[in-house]
Amino acid sequence: MSKREELLKWAREAQKNAYAPYSNFQVGAALLSAGGKVYTGSNVENSSYGLSICAERAAVFKAVNAGERDFALLAVVSSGQGYVFPCGACLQVLAEFSPEMKLIITDEKDHYKEYALQYMLPQIFALGKQEE
Ligand code: THU
Repeated sequence: MSKREELLKWAREAQKNAYAPYSNFQVGAALLSAGGKVYTGSNVENSSYGLSICAERAAVFKAVNAGERDFALLAVVSSGQGYVFPCGACLQVLAEFSPEMKLIITDEKDHYKEYALQYMLPQIFALGKQEE
């Protein structure tokens, strides 16, 4: 099994823990650190909808809380049909740490496509680094 397929498998495992009773849209993410460790996340919704968190950010926050700062690859899976892309908020959070990283986007059959984060979010907000 390739490194990418393995990461996908971790994301599918994480998706099982999604708490999505409102949208019924279960998402799983698996984040590979530069050092080769995998951190997973799933979406966690709330009765007060706006408090919900995406799977991708759940994975990043878990990893950062474990002391990681540098990421190579993130795989995202969902219960949706077709290729499902991360939201802009999650891209911004990933870019905070690893603007050079790549993302693996999947469909319901685990076909996947790989994109550079910089391609998906070419400009990020960076406090104090505004261009002239
Ligand atoms: N969601 C994610 O977990 N990741 C994404 O990239 C987009 C959306 C979640 C948030 C919410 O729980 C559900 O999917 C429907 O929007």
